Amino acid sequence: MTPIKECLINKSTKINPIWLMRQAGRYLPEFREIRKSNPDFIKLCLNHTLAQEITLQPIKRFGFDAAIIFSDILMIPYGIGQNVEFKKNLGPTLGNIELKKLFNVSKNEFTENLSPIYKLLTNLKNCKEIENRDLIGFVGAPWTLLVYMINKISPKNGLQEDFFKDEILINEVLNLLDKFIKIHIENQINAGATIIQIFDSWAGLIQNDFDRFLYYPTLSLVNHVKKLGVPVICFPRGISDYSKFTKIVKPSMINIDYNVDPQKLIKSLDIPIQGGLDPKILLSNKENLKKQIKKYLEIFRDHPYVFNLGHGILPETEIDMVYELVEIVRNYK
Ligand code: CP3
Repeated sequence: MTPIKECLINKSTKINPIWLMRQAGRYLPEFREIRKSNPDFIKLCLNHTLAQEITLQPIKRFGFDAAIIFSDILMIPYGIGQNVEFKKNLGPTLGNIELKKLFNVSKNEFTENLSPIYKLLTNLKNCKEIENRDLIGFVGAPWTLLVYMINKISPKNGLQEDFFKDEILINEVLNLLDKFIKIHIENQINAGATIIQIFDSWAGLIQNDFDRFLYYPTLSLVNHVKKLGVPVICFPRGISDYSKFTKIVKPSMINIDYNVDPQKLIKSLDIPIQGGLDPKILLSNKENLKKQIKKYLEIFRDHPYVFNLGHGILPETEIDMVYELVEIVRNYK
C-alpha cells in the first residue's frame, strides 16, 4: 500500500508521506527548459509525451510519494469550448462564453478534446517511477472554475464589478460544470488516477451563498469520486471555517492553507489532514525552514498527516531548499 493510502485509512506510516502542490512546475530548471521551446501552455498540457516527462521530473529528483499529473484546472473550460490562453505575466485569459455552443458539447466530444490527458495517465500508470506511489488526478472546484470562466482573468485583484449580474448565466455555468467536472473525474479514474484532488483556489472570495457556491457543488463532486471508489482531497483555500466545510462535504482528506492555525484545527477535525506550510518559508533560510516544518510535524504527530504546502510551490523557490525540506520531513521521527 502507498504511504498516502496508509495515511488515508488512519494507519501509522513508516515514513512521513510528502508531495507538493505545483511540484511539476516553474521552480524546476528542467521544466523551464521544456517550456522555453513550448510557448503554448495548453498545447503543452495536451502533449502527453512531454506532460509525462514533466510529471516525473519532481519524482526523479525528490522521490515524492505522489505524482500529480502535469495539466491544469482550466483544461475543463478549454474542453467545453471556451477559449483559454496563458499570456506571459498576465496569467490565464479566457474568451467570451457562448452558452449555446457550450451546451451543445457532448460527453464524447469533451472526452476527445482532453484525450491526451487520459493517455498521459494510462501511460504513467505503467511507469516504474509510479510503483508504490499515488497518481493524483485533479479538477478545479465549480466555484473556482466559475470565477475564471466569468471573470475571464485571474481575480487576484478582485472579481469584476458585474460578476454576479447575470444570475441565469451563473446557474447555467454551474450546471455545466457539475456535469463536465464529473466526466473529467471519471475519465481520469478510468485512466489510472488513484486519488483525486479538488482545487478551490478562490474559495476565499465567497462572501455569501456558501451553500450554492461552496458546499453543495463540492459535496456533489466528492460523492461522485467516492462512488467511483477513489479517495478525494479537498483544498478550499482561504475559507474561514475548515471544520464546518469538512463536516458538510466529508472529503477523504483536507488540504489546509497557510492561514489556518493547525493547533486549533486539529481539535475539531477527525479526518486526515494535508499541507499547511507557507510556500514563502521556502524563500527564507534552512534554519527557519526546519523550525516551521517541525511545527507542523509535531502538531500532527498523532494525527494522519501528509506533508504538503499551504498553496503551490513558488516559481522562485531554490531547488536546494526543496531537497532540504524533503530531508527534514523524511528524517523526522
Ligand atoms: O501541481 C502540479 O504540479 C500539477 C500541475 C498543475 C498546474 N496547475 C500546472 C501549471 C496544477 C495542479 C495546476 C492547478 C491550477 N491551475 C490551479 C489550482 C492550484 C493553485 O495554484 O491555486 C489554478 C488556480 C490554475 C490556473 C493557473 N494555471 C494559473 C493561475 C497559472 C499561473 C499563470 C501565471 O502565469 O502565473 C497557471 C499556469 C500553470 N499551471 C503553470 C503550471 C506549471 C505555469 C505555466 C508557465 O507559465 O510555465
